[in-house]
Amino acid sequence: MELPFAESFRIKMVEPIRRSTRQEREAWIKDANYNLFNLKSDYVFIDLLTDSGTGAMSDKQWSEMMIGDESYAGARSYYKLKNAIKDILGFEYFLPTHQGRAAENVLFSALVKEGDVVPGNSHFDTTKGHIEFRKAKAIDCTINEAFETQTHHPFKGNVDIKKLENVLIEYGDKVPFIIMTVTNNNAGGQPVSLENLKQVRVLADKYGKMVIFDSARFAENAYFIKLREESCKELSIKEIVTEMYKNADAMTMSSKKDAIVNMGGFIGMKDEALFKTASTFNIMFEGFITYGGMSGRDMNALAQGLDEGTEFTTLETRIKQVEYLGEKLKEYGVPIQEPIGGHAIFVDAKKFLPNIPKEEYVAQTLAVELYIEGGVRGVEIGTLLADRDPETRLDRFPKLELLRLAIPRRTYTNNHMDYIAASLGNVYSRRNEIKHGMKILSEAPIMRHFTVELDRL
Ligand code: F0G
Repeated sequence: MELPFAESFRIKMVEPIRRSTRQEREAWIKDANYNLFNLKSDYVFIDLLTDSGTGAMSDKQWSEMMIGDESYAGARSYYKLKNAIKDILGFEYFLPTHQGRAAENVLFSALVKEGDVVPGNSHFDTTKGHIEFRKAKAIDCTINEAFETQTHHPFKGNVDIKKLENVLIEYGDKVPFIIMTVTNNNAGGQPVSLENLKQVRVLADKYGKMVIFDSARFAENAYFIKLREESCKELSIKEIVTEMYKNADAMTMSSKKDAIVNMGGFIGMKDEALFKTASTFNIMFEGFITYGGMSGRDMNALAQGLDEGTEFTTLETRIKQVEYLGEKLKEYGVPIQEPIGGHAIFVDAKKFLPNIPKEEYVAQTLAVELYIEGGVRGVEIGTLLADRDPETRLDRFPKLELLRLAIPRRTYTNNHMDYIAASLGNVYSRRNEIKHGMKILSEAPIMRHFTVELDRL
């Protein structure tokens, strides 16, 4: 008999989680103005809001925490992290930041100015936020296949080289750099091929542009390259990572994902002059160059996490769990983004709830229904997240309305996956009874999804 796949870790510490009743959840979500970010985490049974900062650190990471050096300047922990970044990602220069968006803030302060245009593959919301905040524009050049959830393509995170070249031609000097998000979060945790990264590099060289990788899930991206790109199947994850980063001039990192720490980020750079300019902003916004918003112990855990996070077995265990959930959901008939991506399952809310008009926040409606059904918290990746057009102030309706179920690393078991799938399966069986969506009561001028207040229609 072929043995089934089993996780490559065992559990040393547990945290109790609390079940609740449907009645309790109905009341809690109403009090939270139908915004899942407003819920106390104690009101959530299984939390799939994000895979960011929610993973379980290893025994080795915890032991690294004990030997952190908390010196303000020149800490050993800084050098440990610097070496890990050099070894694994190949960047000579780096700046620690407290998380990914802080890295964007520092780096974009050095590079982006009013009127600029930044092309890429589905910029993450904070990335786009930091671009638009500087009165610049983000242009999404992702391949069209990414927006068809049922179309199979091994690398739906890819940029469309033609679209990208058109932007470079049209905007010329207004383009400070190209940003590639690996994996492509907003398109469904979909990977970018090594070939695509190389093509971007060639194009960037032709037009004299920098390439920056938004690297939150770079290791998951490398895992998919190993599985799906013929020329890379014999390479280790670390070798693939090396190949990927040969094509980047700089990177921003949210270490809370693939480096499996609860807080942290950094910027990697190859150019000394850029490092010097960015250092000034880092000192202003984050902290001195050798800690930039992180404690020594956290830099130690991060260095260890970068190593573990780029091990094949860690990635295989992680991604197979995401796949396990996706396959279960498919058995219930739930429409999801395919192929299944790295860190999350993306449910196609428009297909799930076809009777709800796009003006009624379809994916948010589904997120609320899932919470009420099983106490499972997902997140809307749809019209609320897409925000309003900065000029017209009208809602931007994205091509996809998705409910994201992000799986924290090394945190839940496959029994939890069964429970999540059954909860969403139940919502699916009563989908025709869900006839109305949501309306907005109040919202912030930017990044509204975090604080928006809604009511049922
Ligand atoms: N880039 C990508 C691709 C991300 O997914 C995130 C965060 C960031 C940058 C910003 O990093 O949170 O450390 O400031 N994504 C989280 C998520 C929040 O849930 O997908 P951060």
